[in-house]
Order: sequence, then structure tokens, then C-alpha cells
Amino acid sequence: MRWNISLAYLAALLGCASEGSAADTAVVRDGETGFTFSEFQAAFVIGQSIKFRVAVPSPAPDKFDLVFQIVAPVSVGWTGLAWGASMVNDPLTIGWASGTTPVLSVRRTTVRTQPQVYDGAKVQILKTGSKVNGTHWQITAKCSGCSSFSTTGSNTKSLNPTGVNRLAFAYSKTKPNSASAAAMISVHDVYSYWDHDFSAAGNLDFDQLVTKNT
Ligand SMILES: *[C@@H]1O[C@H](CO)[C@@H](O)[C@H](O)[C@H]1NC(C)=O
Repeated sequence: MRWNISLAYLAALLGCASEGSAADTAVVRDGETGFTFSEFQAAFVIGQSIKFRVAVPSPAPDKFDLVFQIVAPVSVGWTGLAWGASMVNDPLTIGWASGTTPVLSVRRTTVRTQPQVYDGAKVQILKTGSKVNGTHWQITAKCSGCSSFSTTGSNTKSLNPTGVNRLAFAYSKTKPNSASAAAMISVHDVYSYWDHDFSAAGNLDFDQLVTKNT
């Protein structure tokens, strides 16, 4: 099966043809973890959104680690964040809830088929800020290798820690049937893109916050 969907209706649904150069994100301070995040709310069906939040160190070193948070209604089977705004040739961090366990899997693919497990980026789920309750599942994780990665051939893409980066997400209503990072992932129902402002996501105490929440 080829993972190739044209979803013109989705663009209309999300109103996602971003106008001008303004980012699509807002600043959120998460009282629970203490991180300052830049947040995008991705509508995946009418009236329901997944929150994608990014926190970066300030100042950010080369190939900086970042922390991301996904807050998803329980109707979300899985959702993935594409750090290069494409299904192909970039790290995909895919999350779901297996019972009460939040699960994260890093995948990558060069073709539009099910992405395979990828070890070029490493994720660490932070204890604080990762949970499942009756209405939502939420994952907070550190990623090493999401901000700078190889794309095609010998090309590398590096995200700008003090600027706007285009990201993408995909959503499926079908939950993977295990807590294994290698679980089968069904084809997505919806995907879209946005402009995420990392300049509003800086955290002076990034390393201490990672340690505190681990
Ligand atoms: C369930 O989790 C979500 C996401 O973290 C949170 O917004 C909501 O308040 C929680 N609900 C309860 C009843 O704790």
C-alpha cells in the first residue's frame, strides 16, 4: 500500500495555508515540567486538536537537543511529528498510548511506505509530563538528533533554534496494538504542515529542567 494521500479538504479544515511569514505557534509555560514551549494546535478533525510543543536550550549549541511534548485526545490512535516537515528523509517521532503507558518510536523512511525504526535520533521520555488519563495521553520527551539530521545523499538539515521551522504531523485513529517501539503503524488518516517559531521556545535552564523531569 502506498502512503500517498491527497487531502485538499484538510487544508480547508485547518486553514493551514499560512499567510505571510507569521508562525502558527503560541508560547505556553508548562507549570508541571517548568518548560517554556512554543505550541501548535493541530486540528485533526473538526473541533479537536493535538498540541505539539517544542522547547529548546538558550543559547542552543550546534545539533542541540530539544524537548517536545504531545498532548493528544484519546481518540488519537497515533500521531507523528516530522522534524523535516516531510514523511520521507527525516526523523519521525511517533507517539501513542498503550493502555496507560505512553509510547514513543523514532522512525524514518525514504519512500511512502510504513516508516521503519530509526536509531539516528534518540528519544528519552521524561517521567514528569508523560501520562494517560481518561481524556488524553501526553508525552514529554527529549530528542537528540531531531534538530539536525541527514536528508538525502550527503545533505544535512539543521533546524534554526532562534527562528521559524516548518514541521509536519500525521494522525491516525488506529492505535498500534503494542507498546513496542517497533509496533506496526497503520497508514495515516490526516497530515499537515505548519511554521513553528523556535525563537519563542528558548529555555535558559534547559539542562536542569531535563534532569528535574527525568
Ligand atoms: C488529562 O490530561 C490532559 C492532558 O494532560 C489534561 O489537560 C487534563 O486536565 C487531564 N484531565 C484530568 C481529569 O486530570
